[in-house]
Order: sequence, then structure tokens, then C-alpha cells
Amino acid sequence: MLCISVKEFLLWKKKQISKGGDNQSFDFLIECIGGIPKGDLNLLSLNSENKLYLKKNLDHLESIWNDHLLYSSPIQYLCGLTFWRNLKLKVTDKVLIPRPETELIVDIVFKIFGEKSNKFFFAELGTGSGAISIALALSYPLSDGIATDIDQNALEVAIKNYRNSSKQSNLRFICGNWWSPLESFKGKLDLAISNPPYIPKDTYEKLPKEVKNFEPKVALLGGEDGLKHIREIIQKAPIFLKEKGWLILENHFDQGEKVKQLFIKNKFTSIEILKDFSGIGRFTIGRYK
Ligand SMILES: C[S@@+](CC[C@H](N)C(=O)[O-])C[C@H]1O[C@@H](n2cnc3c(N)ncnc32)[C@H](O)[C@@H]1O
Repeated sequence: MLCISVKEFLLWKKKQISKGGDNQSFDFLIECIGGIPKGDLNLLSLNSENKLYLKKNLDHLESIWNDHLLYSSPIQYLCGLTFWRNLKLKVTDKVLIPRPETELIVDIVFKIFGEKSNKFFFAELGTGSGAISIALALSYPLSDGIATDIDQNALEVAIKNYRNSSKQSNLRFICGNWWSPLESFKGKLDLAISNPPYIPKDTYEKLPKEVKNFEPKVALLGGEDGLKHIREIIQKAPIFLKEKGWLILENHFDQGEKVKQLFIKNKFTSIEILKDFSGIGRFTIGRYK
């Protein structure tokens, strides 16, 4: 534990930020590794004679910040953590850092399934850090869920996150390729969700280095046109969903209309393209007949 005056800390912060990077990432580092939430820091800053108690010394924090600036490593991987909805999740380079826009998937489920006392059976295909499934399992304690991923290392992270966030036991984890871990649940799901890899090959090659060099390729690349996995998920969904069961997919910014056509081709009804915070048609939802 390091005790330092707010004045000294703010001078040090100014020096770090002058090297590059943004305030948001810096505050994230100070919260995760330094142990000072941003709100507390703002309050303390009102009086520069106040004292701060940092969990790690300034050299340690500075070396992480330098790595972030030098190699463009995402600050979440360097801290091993991210915040998503009300969850604090462990992240490693085996999982995608869950994005803020994906948080809306949970709100879409709230809109469809309503009351937190409702009971339904859901599966998430490609869970990564487990963010979506954990949020749903905690919000709907009477429901049962299965979270799958092709990568066992990703599933290990998701399992740890579930154990750290909850004492519940309504979420299971199974490793495998899209629908294959769900063979014994044909016709049983009320809801299937996926935020699959949907970046087209050309776009993937041009992704910023903080994404391309650090986040798992298997979590991002969606084949030549980006729709390879989305197609497979939609085509097989009718085998696994109950009659009137819901499918919710996240897609790339310009894929909404194409995904909608795939839903129509596979006999889904009540199809809608829903927008994210930026007004982009980011989610496509529908019911199987
Ligand atoms: C875009 S990430 C989404 C992760 C997480 N659900 C989220 O929203 O942050 C896609 C996930 O799908 C998994 N995945 C990729 N191909 C898969 C496949 N063939 N079968 C199952 N999961 C797959 C990846 O390992 C990755 O965790």
C-alpha cells in the first residue's frame, strides 16, 4: 500500500497522460490495479492536500502504462479485468474483451422475457468470458442456461467468472463447435443467443493493432463475407429451439439486412433488427415459427 498526496498523484498522472493514451484507460488502470475507483479520485481531488492509498506503487503502475502505450496492448488484458454491466470479469488473451454494445443483448432478453421470476431454458453459443450468460443466469435465477465455446481455454475463464460472480448453479459450460454441444437439447431451448465472430476477412486484415494483435482471431473472423458462422447458427437453430423459441444474434454494423434475410429463409417470424447506442442495426432477433 502506498500513501501519497493527491497533489503528488495528480502531477504524476499528468506526466503519464502526456506520454499518450486516454484518460479513460488511465483511470481504468488506477481503479483495477491501484484500487482507487474513479468517483473516489474525483472526490479526493477537491482537496489536493488529501491522501491517497494506492494498492501498488507508482513504478508498477507506470510500467503497465508504458506497456500499454508501447505495444498498444489493451489495458483490460494488462490488468486482467474488465467491467461489463454490473459484472467484474477476468479477461485473458484467450477471450474477447466484452464490448459495451453487447450489454444491450441482456436488455433485449429483459424485454422479451420480462419479470426476473420467469423461468426459461437458454443457450449461448460462443460465450468467451461468459459475460452474457452470467448476466442472464444472475438476473433470472430460476432459469437454466448452457454456455458453450469452441475454445476450452475461453470456457475456463468463463467458469472462473461465473464462480466469482455467483453462488448459483443454473449455468453449465460445454466445449464444442456451435450447436454440437447441445445435441441432447434438440427442440428444448426457449432462447439461443450468440455474438459470433462476424468480421469479414478483408476488414479483419485492416483491424487496429490493439485488436488484431491481441484479441483471439477465432473470436473475430467470420470468413470471407463475415457471415460464415451466422449462417450456420441460423440454419441449425430450428432443430434446437422450441416452437416460438427466440434467436438473438449480434452482427457487424452493415449485416443487419442480410441476417434478416437468413432468418426469413429459415422460417423465423417476428423478425426485427435492433439498434445499438450508435444507431447501428447491431442485433437481429426472431422466433422460430
Ligand atoms: C465475438 S466472441 C463473443 C464472446 C462473448 N460472447 C462476448 O460477447 O463478449 C465469439 C466467441 O465465439 C467462439 N467461437 C468461435 N468459433 C466457434 C465455434 N465454431 N463454435 C463455438 N464457439 C466458437 C470464440 O471462441 C469466441 O469466444
